[in-house]
Order: sequence, then structure tokens, then C-alpha cells
Amino acid sequence: MPSKILIIGACGQIGSELTTKLREIHGTENVIASDINTRKLDLVNSGPFEIIDAKNFNAIKDCCKNHNIDTVYLMAALLSATGEKYPMEAWDLNMNSLFHVLNLAKGGNIKRVYWPSSIAVFGPTTPREDTPQHTICEPTTVYGITKQVGERWCEYYYKKYGVDVRSIRYPGIISHKAMPGGGTTDYAVEIYHEAIKKGTYECFLSEDTSLPMMFMDDAIKATIDLMEAPGENLTIRSSYNLSAISFTPKEIYESIKAQMPDFKISYKPDFRQAIADSWPSSIDDSVARQEWNWQHSFDLDAMTAEMLRALKKKYHAS
Ligand code: SER
Repeated sequence: MPSKILIIGACGQIGSELTTKLREIHGTENVIASDINTRKLDLVNSGPFEIIDAKNFNAIKDCCKNHNIDTVYLMAALLSATGEKYPMEAWDLNMNSLFHVLNLAKGGNIKRVYWPSSIAVFGPTTPREDTPQHTICEPTTVYGITKQVGERWCEYYYKKYGVDVRSIRYPGIISHKAMPGGGTTDYAVEIYHEAIKKGTYECFLSEDTSLPMMFMDDAIKATIDLMEAPGENLTIRSSYNLSAISFTPKEIYESIKAQMPDFKISYKPDFRQAIADSWPSSIDDSVARQEWNWQHSFDLDAMTAEMLRALKKKYHAS
């Protein structure tokens, strides 16, 4: 029997590319995409799609029952910057959607759950360089609090009820298909779009703010590798540290400028600077590398080459 997969939040930045990849692997008809609305029409038209509000337990339950779902990827979330504007909404969406999926899995029909955590679980008291897997986590954003608490609940459901839940602490994810929505690391996507569209970019973080980042292809590969790993190899049921590259706005600017010599940047830090300052600048992901052979492929310049190639095609074609 092929796996039947439900992706909640399939129209988002990561959800949309994850849906495409999972459909390639498992067959389009075995991967049900869902989101609260139909904002990504190509996804809606390219295979099974259901409108699901991730806060609605019955909607998730009915969809799982109707499609015999055995694996759920819960990708819906309010991110760090939006979470600071709407704290109660972030808490409501990020926590209740997780409880709904964990409780359904506890009931036995869902065999495996993927839920993303984030570098936002760390805070100003966390060691900033090479942040270890097990360390101080005192997040200062609502988003970080929801992810930290969610990690505790994932581990609890695994230990107490045997729910096979797996998770990664994503760094900032950079991609050229769907835009990210409301994160602090979004500048590293916007900068490529603005470089192509306008040749200038005003960055909302200061030039020397170093953050952990990753190209989308690596993030999708990590997600699928973790979900396919033998359960007995996995010692972490809260969430795995994961890392690829770390860079500052100045370094990504220089990487783009090497290919676009006229590109200009200016800096105007806003409220997101304080969020970035509370997060690590680099992550120790040796546990993920040992337990499920995680390896990244893209460094900064390889990512820049791919981003500029894809975005030039996109904007110059339209
Ligand atoms: N990209 C996220 C954010 O900036 C971090 O996980 O909120």
C-alpha cells in the first residue's frame, strides 16, 4: 500500500515545494495538499486539494478519514515577525494545529507526523556560535515560544503515546518559488527579487547580522530524509538542529554583487533587528549528520547563482 500523505499549509513557502517533491516520490494522487484558501492556483489545479483551516480539528480529522491518510506534514504557522504583531493568533494557530494532529495520531490512524520547529526556539541566553543540540532555550518571541513548547509536546506524545513525530529546527529558508511570509529571515529572499527587479535593496537588518540559512532544495531534502530514516536511529523527538550556511546581509550582498556589479544595498533596521539579535549565528547539527546522514549541498555562492538564474527567468518572462 502506498503512503497517503496530507500536507497542511501546502500553499506556503515550504509547503508548496514539499508538495511538489512528495508528489514526484509518492504519486500525485497519494499526496493531498490543503490550505486555508486557494491562493496558489497552480498547486490547487495540479492534484488533490482540500480547503482546511489548521485550527479546525474536525476538518483535519474528516480529511484524514476520507483519504485514508497515514502521514501528515503540518506546515501551517505564523512566523516570527507576524507573531509579534498578532501574538494570540500565533499562539492559537501554532499550538492548536499541533495538538489536533498529535491527538489524531495518538488515536492510531496516522502513522507518522512531521512538524517543523525553528532556530527561534533559541534566545539571547543561548550560546550564539555553533549552538549545540541540547542547550539553553529561552526564546523571546511568541513564535519561538510556540515552537519551544511544541517541541516539548512532540517529545511528550512520542514517549507517552508512541506517536512517531519528527521535526527539524529550520534556519531561514531561501527559495525562488513561493515567497516567505512574515519571518525575520525573509530579507535573504527579498534581496534577490529586488536585485533583479530594481537593482537596489533596503535591508531591514544591519549589515553584520549573521544568521543560519539554507537553500530550499536542501531543506526539502532534509525533511524527506528525516521522514524516511529508520525510527530506531532517531534519538531526538523534540527537534533536530539543522544547518547549512550562515551569512550576514553584507555577505549576501557581496555574493550578488559579484554577479551583478551595479547592485546597491542600504540598511534600515526595524523591529526585526531585535529578533535577529536574539537568535544564534551558527548551529551545530552534528546529531542530525550522525543519525540520519544529513548533508547540505548549497553554499552561499551556489545558492546565489541558482536564485539569480531562476528569478531572471521569472521576471524577464513576465
Ligand atoms: N524563518 C523563520 C522566521 O524568520 C525562522 O524560522 O521567522
